[in-house]
This record gives sequence, C-alpha cells and structure tokens, in this order.
Amino acid sequence: MSKNILIGITSSIASYKIYDLIRKFKKTDYNVKVILTPNALEFVSPIVIETLSKNEVYVEQYCKRSNPEHICLCDWADCFLIAPISANTISKITAGICDNLLTSVACAYLGSQKPLIIAPAMNEGMYLNPFVKENIEKLKNNNVSIIDPQKGYLACGAEGIGRLADIDIIYQKTLREIHQNKKNNSKKILVTSGGTIEAIDNVRYITNFSSGKMGYNLALSAYYNGFDVKLITTCDTQNPPFITQQVKSALEMLNAIQNSEFDYLFMASAVCDYRSNTVSAKKLKKEELGKKLTLNLTQNPDVVATIAKSKTKNQIITGFCLADDDLINCAKNKLKNKNLDYIIANDVQTALNKDENEVTIISKSGKMVNIKKDTKFNIAKKILEVVCD
Ligand SMILES: Cc1cc2nc3c(=O)[nH]c(=O)nc-3n(C[C@H](O)[C@H](O)[C@H](O)COP(=O)(O)O)c2cc1C
Repeated sequence: MSKNILIGITSSIASYKIYDLIRKFKKTDYNVKVILTPNALEFVSPIVIETLSKNEVYVEQYCKRSNPEHICLCDWADCFLIAPISANTISKITAGICDNLLTSVACAYLGSQKPLIIAPAMNEGMYLNPFVKENIEKLKNNNVSIIDPQKGYLACGAEGIGRLADIDIIYQKTLREIHQNKKNNSKKILVTSGGTIEAIDNVRYITNFSSGKMGYNLALSAYYNGFDVKLITTCDTQNPPFITQQVKSALEMLNAIQNSEFDYLFMASAVCDYRSNTVSAKKLKKEELGKKLTLNLTQNPDVVATIAKSKTKNQIITGFCLADDDLINCAKNKLKNKNLDYIIANDVQTALNKDENEVTIISKSGKMVNIKKDTKFNIAKKILEVVCD
C-alpha cells in the first residue's frame, strides 16, 4: 500500500522548489497532502499544488468539518516533512506555539512516534543566528530529522549557507524516514559497483560494459531500509545520500574493501580479470607502436574470493555471476569455490547495461529464489529481503 506524505510549506523564497518534490513523490506512487502557512500563500500557488498533489491544499486552522483538521492530518500522515521551513516556524515549533494549521499539526505530530523531517532554508544571517541554531539543535535532540541547508548562491544575492538542500536529497532522506527499519541502523552494508578500469597508459584503459546500475540500486534500497551504507564504485554518482568511495582498478577496489567494515557485502561490480603488465606514464604514440599492438596482461586477484577467504563468522558475502549460458551451474560453482553465502545469477542479455533485470538468488544451503523481470531497484529490494532478512 502506498504511504502518505504530508508536506508543510512555509514562506521562503525556496518554496517554489517543492513543486518538483511533489511531482517526484506522486510519480513514485506516494500520496501527498500539503499544508501552507498563511504567509506561504505569498510564495506558492494552491492551484498548482492541488493539481500536482491531486489533493486539496490545507491552510485554514478553523474550518467547518466535524473533526479537527490538525488531528485528521496527523493521523493520515506516515511522515510529515516541512520544506522549506522558515526561521520563524522553526522557532514557533520549538516553543510549542500553535498559531496556524501547520504549527498545530507539528505540535501534535511531535508527540507521535512518526517521523518529522525539516529542511531549513534562509539567509545566512538568519541561519547562523544563535537562537535559530539552538532551536534546530533542540528539534534534532527530540528525534526530528534535519536536512541541512547547503552553501551556495542565496536569493538575497549573497554567497553563503542557507540554500534549501537539493530536492533529490530531500526526496531520498524522506523515503529513508518512511521505510527504514530502525533495527538496521547499526548494520553495515558495503556494495561495489561498475566495471574496473585498468590503465594502459595515462589516457587509455581496459574496462567492460558494466553500468553500475545494479550496485547503485542495491545501495539506494539498503539506504531506504535504514542500513548504514557505503558504495565503492568506478562510476560517477550524483550526490547520493550514502557514503561513496571512487576507485578505478581491481587492485584499488580490493584495497578499498579491505579497509571498509561490513556486515553484508554485495559484490555487484564487474572486476576485470586482467590488467596491463605495464602502465606508461605518457601516452603511447601510434607512430612508435606500429601497425599491431600486443598487450601483455597479468591476472588480477579474484577480489570477492580474496575477501571471502578471511571473512568472519557473522559476515555475509553475496557475489554476482554473469554468463551467456549454463548460468545456474556456473553460479553454483562460483558460490562454492569462492566461499560465498549467496550468489545472484544473471544473464548477459537481460542484465548488462540495462535498467531492468531478472535474477536467481542461490544460497549456500542450495535454496533458489527466482525474481522475474523488474526494474533494478525492485530487484534490489527483493535481493535485500532474501539476504538481509
Ligand atoms: C522575499 C522574501 C523571502 C523570504 N525568504 C525567507 C526564507 O527563505 N527563509 C526564512 O526563514 N524566511 C524568509 N522570509 C521571511 C519570512 O517570510 C517571515 O519570517 C515569515 O513571517 C515567515 O512566516 P511562516 O513561517 O509562517 O511561513 C522571506 C521574506 C520575504 C519577503
């Protein structure tokens, strides 16, 4: 069943950015209702919000319904996000003031166990005001999640801290608050993704067609589930909400894993089996190489097998097997030979560089779970359900 997100918008120059956030939540099947402070009516249009959210917009504290509006909205919401939240509303909520519908809902909501998230946006002077800072700290200490503002160009014309966090970050952090299982907070998930990059000289390299999408989606899904996530990747990632470490070669990837703690490791990267014997510090010249180039290659270490050799009793390692044919046998052999706990078997044709996938999860006890064709995000969710149950 889709979850209910209540969004509160206060009067800030950044308020218009929430149009995009509402669209994002609606596009991914969340129910959205919006409360505006009376002052926010100066900054956003209720008609636009009603059209995007497919719900009426709530402003009035006193309306002619049988049940008090602020309690109905509190009960309806699985999560209450106030974005942007003004210095004024932060201070009112901290003091328990309930002089409009939004602050009344916030007051009642703070007493519930449900997630309240705030994303402040304001001029740098307001944000650095000691009373505003103290109030944000008070909210943090009372289980309110704060999505910190960013540094950058502010609407007042100055550079500084106070810009509303990126809409993608607000979206991802809200989903974590809604979906997380708090017992996962202390569990560390390490994911690797992308094809390793093995240099030939300072401009050329050997790699493969891995897109890194399966690993990225595993990391994102694990983040939403509340895990402490780190992604080690060879791919560019745009502002992910979890920790990422950029690496290039198989040796760098191995080193990065060896220096990371984990309870669960998902090796979704495509490690090149070979690397060039030598790496030229300068670009090799075609004129000097002649008509044919022979590369001498050295075998890379088997990264997942190396890690699995020294794994502790409580660590769970999941490998991936990609093959054109005889996939299940190939996966079963890898599972056994590399001392893995699970292996995900996926076919070259359906998996490589695609947005969707179809996989079979095989456990070391021999249990097999087939997951039918779906988006890589949904496949990732199901893999986590099986492996991290
Ligand atoms: C053009 C303009 C932009 C404003 N932007 C912000 C802002 O980004 N953050 C903020 O805290 N206050 C901002 N304010 C001040 C608030 O609108 C003012 O404090 C108001 O009382 C807040 O009301 P509310 O919290 O009930 O929405 C702005 C005011 C104006 C006129």
